[in-house]
Amino acid sequence: MPEAAEHVGSGKVRELFALDDERLLLVASDRISTFDVVLPTEIPDKGRVLTGLSAFWFARTHEIVPNHLLALREDGRSTECRRLEMLPIECVVRGYLSGSGWKDYRTTGTVCGHVLPSGLAESSKLSEPVFTPSTKAMTGHDENIDRDRALELMEPELYDAAEQASLAVYQFASDYANARGIIIADTKFEFGLDPEGRLVLGDEALTPDSSRFWPADVYAAGGPQPSFDKQFARDYCETVGWDKTYPGPELPDEIVAGTRARYVEAFERLTGIAFDDYVADPEAVLR
Ligand SMILES: Nc1ncnc2c1ncn2[C@@H]1O[C@H](COP(=O)(O)OP(=O)(O)OP(=O)(O)O)[C@@H](O)[C@H]1O
Ligand SMILES: [Mg+2]
Repeated sequence: MPEAAEHVGSGKVRELFALDDERLLLVASDRISTFDVVLPTEIPDKGRVLTGLSAFWFARTHEIVPNHLLALREDGRSTECRRLEMLPIECVVRGYLSGSGWKDYRTTGTVCGHVLPSGLAESSKLSEPVFTPSTKAMTGHDENIDRDRALELMEPELYDAAEQASLAVYQFASDYANARGIIIADTKFEFGLDPEGRLVLGDEALTPDSSRFWPADVYAAGGPQPSFDKQFARDYCETVGWDKTYPGPELPDEIVAGTRARYVEAFERLTGIAFDDYVADPEAVLR
């Protein structure tokens, strides 16, 4: 644990410590949340998978947009990063129609102000990826918003820069993942401003917690897809008659093992690095 670092916050998954005025230590726990509720059961190594994958992508996308990563620690779950003033929106990119995007499309034919062609099915590929931001709800669920709503919260130049960077990083990662048999259906980025006012990619990036990863070989639009993310744990939660408020259900051993296996498989397929090799030497993802 960080010596002499001040604990400055807890997210659902991460603990934040201030190393100094400019630097934070982000420690990813093994906690899992479904439907925005942290479950009482942890998924061993999940925090390492999220940290390793984020660092892997940060190392490969910094020429598209600068990011907050400064150093990866030996425990494989802690990153030293630049402290940012986070933007008030979550920057979601969708290449496929799923989750709340599919729900919005079904009722309105649009997602966050983008009018989509009629006749799309659940999980359909969009002709172009779209930027579909949401509010950052302090409690409860994020809400999808259009550009006009977002501009009540931030300057247009900043919104446009975040949109452009989000689409560019998504496009890079989605091509990269496709070549490894994984579809990145959608993903969420969080950007912030550094002390000089530059846009910097923060938080985690392109992980199974922030994205929907689908195995490309069995992809078929027209319904939900199997995935490498917490959908497996979510599906279990749906079977136990839980009302999606605290406290969440305990996960049985086979759901824990199945979820861990999916996270680790996503890590290994995307990075090409054995997860045990990452644990032995986290900096392997930076090379
Ligand atoms: N470089 C950074 N500077 C400042 N804050 C950051 C930075 N990177 C990430 N954050 C913030 O740290 C937190 C990460 O914690 P975590 O992912 O567990 O949160 P969450 O559950 O997604 O959201 P919440 O914090 O609302 O519970 C987020 O609030 C995120 O916005
Ligand atoms: Mg988060």
